[in-house]
Amino acid sequence: MNVQPIGIFDSGVGGISIWREIHLLLPNEHTIYLADSKNAPYGNRSKSEITELSIKNTELLIEKGCKLIVVACNTATTNAIKTLRENYQIPFIGIEPAIKPAALNTQTKAVGILATKGTLSSELFHKTTDLYSSGIKVVEQVGEGLVELIESGDLNSKALKTLLKNYLQPMIDSKIDYLVLGCTHYPFLMPLLLDILPKHVKIIDSGEAVARQTKAILEKYNLLNPQKTISKTQFYTNGNTEVMAILLGEKFKVEYLTF
Ligand code: DGL
Repeated sequence: MNVQPIGIFDSGVGGISIWREIHLLLPNEHTIYLADSKNAPYGNRSKSEITELSIKNTELLIEKGCKLIVVACNTATTNAIKTLRENYQIPFIGIEPAIKPAALNTQTKAVGILATKGTLSSELFHKTTDLYSSGIKVVEQVGEGLVELIESGDLNSKALKTLLKNYLQPMIDSKIDYLVLGCTHYPFLMPLLLDILPKHVKIIDSGEAVARQTKAILEKYNLLNPQKTISKTQFYTNGNTEVMAILLGEKFKVEYLTF
């Protein structure tokens, strides 16, 4: 089982940011990445639809022999990971908005969170936020339309800039000093975010923490790949392979797959 790949899925290209962190920390682990771009965005779907799609992705990754699955999507984690863990034997790693470090470190007592509707309305998100945000103003914003624009591959469009400016202004007015990126697609917006936000605002996401947790769980279950050979990565999308290859920006082949 140890030599088997780690499976990673997202509603599209967003989880590439998570794949990068995992590949950096665990370079000799084989990985299989599934981008369910055909069904993106997940963020406006119902909990049961998100769960159904997550099950479909999970079964494909299990079929391909994955030893562990990283749900590289905040929306799928906050809505479906409980069901996945109840129904399948292999370990699952999820991603949730990094509210805790933002709430613990804010000086202005105001933090912003940009995420999908599915994540911000989930029970899991509310639980975590309630736990850490006492005495802190949490400015929540649904990133309506952002995922679709990112999936189109143009990260510098006027539409993207305008939307983002509108979404961030109330946070700037509330004097946030931390912005939490609660969707794995949003790290692709980093250049625009840095341009719009005041310099002192720190932008955080959970990518590195997910990679560390993946390593810890592989160690715990004795699943680390003992081979020190160069690892293999397979990228599959049911959407546009060219856009994904551009956003990946690395010399990997992206294959089209119907799922
Ligand atoms: N990348 C995903 C997330 O982290 C989902 C975005 C979407 O499909 O709406 O939430």
